[in-house]
Amino acid sequence: MPDLNDATRGRVLYGGDYNPEQWPESVWHDDIRLMRRAGVTTVTVGVFSWARLEPRPGARDFDWLDRVLDLLHEGGIEVCLATPTASPPPWMGSRHPETLPRDESGTVVWYGSRNQFCASSPVYRDHALRITEDLADRYGGHPGLRMWHVGNEYGTHCWCDETARHFRRWLRTRYGGLDALNEAWGTAFWSQRYDSWEEIIPPRRAQYLINPGQALDFRRFTSDALLECFTAERDALAARTPHIPVTTNFHPLFIGQDGWAWAAEEDVVSVDLYPDPKDPHAAAYGALVQDLTRSQAGGPWVLMEQAAGPVNWRGVNHPKPHGLMRLWSLQAVARGADAVCFFQWRQSRQGGEKFHSGMVPHAGEHSRTFARVGELGAELRELAPVVGTDVPARAAILHDWHSWWATVQDGRPSSLVSCERLLRAWHQALWERNLTTDFAHPHADLTDYALVAVPQLYLLTDEALDNLAAYVRGGGTLVCGFFTGVADEDDRVRPGGVDRRLRGLLGIRTVHEWWPLDEGEALTAEGAWLGAFHGTLWSEDLEPSTAEPVARIKGGELDGRPAVIRNAYGTGTAWYVSTLPEPTALRALLGRAAEEAGLAPALPGLPEGVEAVWRGPYLFLLNHGRTPAVVPLPSAPSGRTDLLTGRAHHTSVRLDRFAVMVLAPPESLA
Ligand code: GAL
Repeated sequence: MPDLNDATRGRVLYGGDYNPEQWPESVWHDDIRLMRRAGVTTVTVGVFSWARLEPRPGARDFDWLDRVLDLLHEGGIEVCLATPTASPPPWMGSRHPETLPRDESGTVVWYGSRNQFCASSPVYRDHALRITEDLADRYGGHPGLRMWHVGNEYGTHCWCDETARHFRRWLRTRYGGLDALNEAWGTAFWSQRYDSWEEIIPPRRAQYLINPGQALDFRRFTSDALLECFTAERDALAARTPHIPVTTNFHPLFIGQDGWAWAAEEDVVSVDLYPDPKDPHAAAYGALVQDLTRSQAGGPWVLMEQAAGPVNWRGVNHPKPHGLMRLWSLQAVARGADAVCFFQWRQSRQGGEKFHSGMVPHAGEHSRTFARVGELGAELRELAPVVGTDVPARAAILHDWHSWWATVQDGRPSSLVSCERLLRAWHQALWERNLTTDFAHPHADLTDYALVAVPQLYLLTDEALDNLAAYVRGGGTLVCGFFTGVADEDDRVRPGGVDRRLRGLLGIRTVHEWWPLDEGEALTAEGAWLGAFHGTLWSEDLEPSTAEPVARIKGGELDGRPAVIRNAYGTGTAWYVSTLPEPTALRALLGRAAEEAGLAPALPGLPEGVEAVWRGPYLFLLNHGRTPAVVPLPSAPSGRTDLLTGRAHHTSVRLDRFAVMVLAPPESLA
């Protein structure tokens, strides 16, 4: 199977989405000139060009694309060629209205934007496959082709009748018979029992709470239905060009796809990433998305899209202060990216995204943005030695999209508790301590991790529960957040409210009651070494069995109940945290658990705001702070050389605001 190495061939790929169909041909020549100047290696062509390639059903207009690919090739720019299937042309919706998605109320979602297709529509699938096959037949042998990019950010939802039929087929495969489905969905509740398959529909708009089993299965189904669209195109491409890797770009931390299942079907995993320059936690968020993407990829990955400046889809769209675009690009490389790309090459003059930045902005080639794009291109060339290397991590956060799906339904103890919020808080605490963290699926082999953190896995399968128990029994350290292990695979509450095995592992006799907290409400807790801290979102009337309390709630109804407990189990240790501790306390808690597990940060003694990550033998240092920082270096007899400047450093380095160094041991430069 081809992989990312087949595209990178020892270089960090650099480029972006290139949409020449929006420009007269005279501009194309200028594009190539500027790409060369900026150090662009690879551009993604054709993402939304379906209406241009197939102006009417069955017609083909490929001549312009022939010229584009040839021009790029002559200019030494390689191509990641996209199938255009994320945006069907108007003729499809007009002639085949059944390809248009319908929302929960049955309202048609029209063309005139993008992504207006129903993943279950045979007509859409058939047209998508045919244009894909024709593209592969025509360009499979093009010397500039390095990668295929299928669709774009898969994520549409549809509740139409075709979807209903497809959903039923999917359910038959999952359950075999209606009895099993009725049992799994708990349809004895509110007279929801199904007597025939034809009665089953997607969870459409209804009077009151939707059946949670039906809603959860519909999310599973939708991810699978979209994945079928992807794999159909992938197979058509792979059959024609078995040596060219295939990818599709993920939306970051996007709830609509089971990222683990999708990544397993891709040769190359890629993601789009747009942190808000004004968000004080943007760097931590970026690190999270990068760690998750690397973990799903099982190695190096592609940053398919980021912005050179502002986006256009926030209320207020902020440009990036000088140095931030470079800093975040190199952060991605530090955390495993072997490609740094943008949306998009040249800022559009028309259309919905004309105020979204580009590598070549409206201000043109003499702009500061383009100058910085060129500087970054030159620097990435220096990072060739890093390509293909691993990011070693001995801590893991467990994440399962199915559990997330189960938590987004109404009728729960608190609508304030969100999986994303908890993931971000816990990951950030580890990131701020410079403990490099992978993500892992709860069924994954965890034995190589010294620390496993579970911010929240409301839904845990039997297999996952056994996996966690075996991990701790065998000497692992588990830190588990509240409202975990509550439901089984069908979203049925486990006897006792929290699974018996998990309670045994955590040393909990009973969780008598959940006491969620209001927005703005905080509890106070105190522990010997943790000191006093606030907790938000959640609290519990928790009664331990074998666990020792680490911190107790002070005051209020739950005065004296444990907020954090620690339990010896087998040869390992399991912690349980029944609230969301304020950031400093969560950092201290996870730091202590890591220390006890024998885990050291990437570098000791780092000043606040400085991120350190190892990639192979290379040490990345990134100053996210707004003030200069001095970083003591680990001893190396002949010092370390910054790959970006060629300068040698010995005992310590000074990093200005937003500065980055990539330090190489001398032997790696021999
Ligand atoms: C991405 C999308 C791109 C572009 C970009 C703007 O989600 O894949 O096509 O729309 O957002 O930020």
